[in-house]
Formats: sequence, structure tokens, C-alpha cells
Amino acid sequence: MDTRDSPSFDRAAEDAGNILSLEHCNIRIPEQRPAILFFIEGLGLTRDPYMHVTDANMWVNAGRNQFHLPTNVRPQVFRGEIAVVVPHLDLVRARLPRLVERLAGTAFAWQDAGDTVLATCPWGNRFRVHAPGRFGRMVLGIPCLTFPVPRGAAAAIGRFYATVLKARVAPLSPGDAEAGAAGVEVRVGVDQVLRFVDTDQPIAPFDGHHVAIYVADFSGPHQWLAERGLVTEESDPWQYRFDALVDPASGECVFQLEHEVRSLSHPMYPRHLALVNRNPVQSQGQYLPGRDAWYAPDRGA
Ligand SMILES: [Fe+2]
Repeated sequence: MDTRDSPSFDRAAEDAGNILSLEHCNIRIPEQRPAILFFIEGLGLTRDPYMHVTDANMWVNAGRNQFHLPTNVRPQVFRGEIAVVVPHLDLVRARLPRLVERLAGTAFAWQDAGDTVLATCPWGNRFRVHAPGRFGRMVLGIPCLTFPVPRGAAAAIGRFYATVLKARVAPLSPGDAEAGAAGVEVRVGVDQVLRFVDTDQPIAPFDGHHVAIYVADFSGPHQWLAERGLVTEESDPWQYRFDALVDPASGECVFQLEHEVRSLSHPMYPRHLALVNRNPVQSQGQYLPGRDAWYAPDRGA
């Protein structure tokens, strides 16, 4: 077929890289009630109705992503900012202020930042809540984690993800670069990203929080990490863990973030594609029949 007169497309722009999904963020919390107030009432997210419904753990659904909140006396705090996209940002603006009294004495805080809402959970995890539009087609989910890292580390972390995880890595998007930030974006699937930004500010010690990712090439990263003694857990046939982000040239660990690395054969793999997500606008007084779910699972998130 003669394609000389066909339209020209940037085919590389459509490459997803090896990390296909950031499925959940795992944060230990000491008790469930403040988490119910913050995540379910405040952010309007959904407690998973099927899995971990006791007080030992709570899974919170956000589109095709989750927060895993196991109960532990020592809470964990992500060393950065967790972005959340919701289709109901005005509802978040309206409901977070109602929590002030009930979450008094905790780290809870919130601020209307114009087109986003900043919120701090009762244990200090920081969230930036967006309306749809900033992160591709995502209307509900966890599109972005941003980690300040020691100055100079971001470039090494970019090389680590590109070399070891075989991810697509790019400089920060123009808006961030204009703000003077040096850093990298690690592409996850088509609508998620891990951002690492150089900073001179002090960084808290790593406390063991983790993210779960699905990768297409499962054994390649494992071999590289295992050869260097960097695999921290051989969980089962479908999962392993590591937490050191190392400069691939020197082997120096420049930052820590535990990764739960899963293959596409993992028993949980397809589940996140059809998580239950409720319509948080529903109320007894203004009930809309047939609108309990925010959207049908096959519309994607
Ligand atoms: Fe996990």
C-alpha cells in the first residue's frame, strides 16, 4: 500500500512503556474512623464492599485505583503529594470543611487552591484533588504521585526506571519546568505518572509505605534487582518487592519507595478494571433512581 499521502502520526507518543498500571498506594493507619471521614465522606471515594471489610484493613476505591489502609499502631506518610482526580470536586470543597471539628487534634487540613483542592489526611499524607481534564481521560483515580528527592537524585531515578523497569521517562512537563523544578516523569500506562523532583528541603526517613504496579516484563527487572541483592521480598510466583531506587551506573541508592511488582498473571490483576465506585452525590432527600453507581465499569477510569 502506498502511504506517501497518508497522515503523519507520532507513533512513539503512543508507547505505554513497561509499567502498565499503578494499582494501589498502601498506607498504614492506626484506626479506621478518621479514614472513613477523610476518604469516604470528605473525598467522596468508595469503601471496597467485597475485600477487607473488617477493622484490620480498609480498601478505598478510586476509579481503577485503590488506597490500601491496613491497621497498624504506627501510621505511614508518603514523602510527597498524592494526586486524586474526582468527577465531583465541588462536593469535596463542600464536605472537607465539615470534617474540621470531627478530625480536630489530627493532622487533617484542607485548602481551596483554585482549580484544585489541597487536603492533608489525619496522619499527614498530602493530597491534591483535581477535577477531570488534567490527566488524560481519567475522571476518577490516582493519576500522579510526586516525590521531592535530594538534589541530583531525580535524574538518577529517571535512569533507574528507564533502565531497570523499562518505563518511559521524560523531563517534567512544561508547566513544572517553568516553575524552576528539575525532575523527571515516569509514565505509567496511559494516564498515570510518577514524578520525582529535586529539592534542597529535608526529606523524612522512609517508613515503608508502598505502591503496587503491574508490569508487562516481569522477569527482566527482577533479574537486574536480584543480581544486585535489591529484591526485598519474593512474595509468590506473581509478585516481588524492592524499595531502593538506585543510580544504575553506580549502584548508589538515591531514594526509597517500596514497589510491589506484579505480573499480569497475578490473581488480582483484572479486578481493578471493574471496581465498585459510588455516586457520592446520592442522598435520601434527593435520591436519583438508578444513579447509585458513578458510572458503569466498562466506561473506564
Ligand atoms: Fe500492596
